[in-house]
Amino acid sequence: MAETALLELDKVSKRFGEFVAVDRLSMTVHQGEIVALLGRTGAGKSTVMGLLMGSISCDEGAVRVAGKDPSKDFQDLRGKLSVSFQTDRLLPWRTTVENVELGLQILNFPKDQIRPKALEWLRRVNLHDAQDKYVHELSGGMRQRVSLARALAVDPELLLLDESFSQLDHVTSQVLRRDFAQIVRQYHKTCVFVTHRIDDALEMADRIFVLAAPASVRLELRLSAADRADPERMKQIHGEIAAAIGAGPDE
Ligand SMILES: Nc1ncnc2c1ncn2[C@@H]1O[C@H](COP(=O)(O)OP(=O)(O)OP(=O)(O)O)[C@@H](O)[C@H]1O
Ligand SMILES: [Mg+2]
Repeated sequence: MAETALLELDKVSKRFGEFVAVDRLSMTVHQGEIVALLGRTGAGKSTVMGLLMGSISCDEGAVRVAGKDPSKDFQDLRGKLSVSFQTDRLLPWRTTVENVELGLQILNFPKDQIRPKALEWLRRVNLHDAQDKYVHELSGGMRQRVSLARALAVDPELLLLDESFSQLDHVTSQVLRRDFAQIVRQYHKTCVFVTHRIDDALEMADRIFVLAAPASVRLELRLSAADRADPERMKQIHGEIAAAIGAGPDE
């Protein structure tokens, strides 16, 4: 089966003034893949996410999402791309279900479909009971679930997550990651997520990129089901990734 590139960065560079944040970064993500971006703080991971969602435009090279330039073709990508961040960005004056409805309202979904759809996604992230609670009444893990439900409810092709699981305790984060990866695979979404935890990447991703600073690919590797079933192999991959993150002139 031919793999369709949903997302392409082709020798992309980005400077902030004199400072080079992204240096000729090339990377392709195929439809249906879950891809992890790892790298030290300041490597440029969030900048890459900004380039992919179109909030940052590149100085050189080309960014393509579903064949479009996200920094220019906003209209064409409306509803195709959802984002969720470390800070959950929920609206405190809205209840849980109303927060999930937000994206659907912005995209002008038919009014009678908005509430049922929001409730459906709250159920999928196991938050059905909390639909009428306000943000301050939710735990951090619950907020992240609301944020993910909101991102998924608009049925996007591509999900971009920046440290969405990292503020949670280990167990909560693990459960949420597992649930999320299952949903992404079940609904054939494509996902790029940033994490600073190697284990998160190993658990969820089909492919892992370790970025060097300024953002460029230091290591790319693919994970198969066979790798995951082999603890020795996973230990070895963990070591390779740790070495790649640790390597560099600033070490
Ligand atoms: N708007 C901006 N103006 C100037 N410099 C910026 C801007 N945004 C990012 N940078 C710089 O670019 C580099 C990459 O930042 P970025 O936020 O992409 O890193 P990151 O890999 O996401 O780090 P972290 O893991 O800490 O979130 C940093 O050195 C940062 O200071
Ligand atoms: Mg960041």
